[in-house]
Amino acid sequence: MTQARVAQGQEESYREFFVNSNKNYFRSVIQSKSKYEEYRYDRGISISSTNVKGIITYVNKNFCEMSGYEKHELLGKSHNVIRHPDMPREIFREMWECIDSGKDWSGIIKNLRKDGKYYWAHSHVIPIIENNFIVGYSSLRKPVLRNELDEVIIRYNKMLLAEAIY
Ligand SMILES: Cc1cc2nc3c(=O)[nH]c(=O)nc-3n(C[C@H](O)[C@H](O)[C@H](O)COP(=O)(O)O)c2cc1C
Repeated sequence: MTQARVAQGQEESYREFFVNSNKNYFRSVIQSKSKYEEYRYDRGISISSTNVKGIITYVNKNFCEMSGYEKHELLGKSHNVIRHPDMPREIFREMWECIDSGKDWSGIIKNLRKDGKYYWAHSHVIPIIENNFIVGYSSLRKPVLRNELDEVIIRYNKMLLAEAIY
């Protein structure tokens, strides 16, 4: 191979490397951007139901749109499929303690969409009781008002910090 052909070959592989690494760079920028991007949804109440173990048995159209998943991707999965790492463990512990004892639970939850974006929702979780037995749970979600979030974010961050320490 002549000197010129080596140089040409090298140039092509550099170009290929440059294009590919840029593609990867832009892909990772898009991914990390969506990771921290909020998804606002206010087109109606979103509903999901689970069995007693928290396995999803029903979702409405709004829930699919809000979470970015298709219905078939959610049914049969644990509800933690949309769990966001910014949510303190303690919140879910309280939720389960409450609904397991037959009471309703209300709270604000940050959820993770399939595309990596997050959304906040006001959740109201109720136990479904038949013949005195809890047979499952349902949850209704509505949008959160911006002014409610400031206090919640501070409180959750304190809880996360405490969970990281202890
Ligand atoms: C009806 C119902 C709705 C729930 N909705 C959510 C939800 O929107 N987001 C979420 O992260 N967990 C939700 N959970 C709680 C999850 O089942 C789970 O406990 C939580 O994501 C924490 O996951 P982990 O226990 O695996 O850490 C819901 C549970 C029930 C029974």
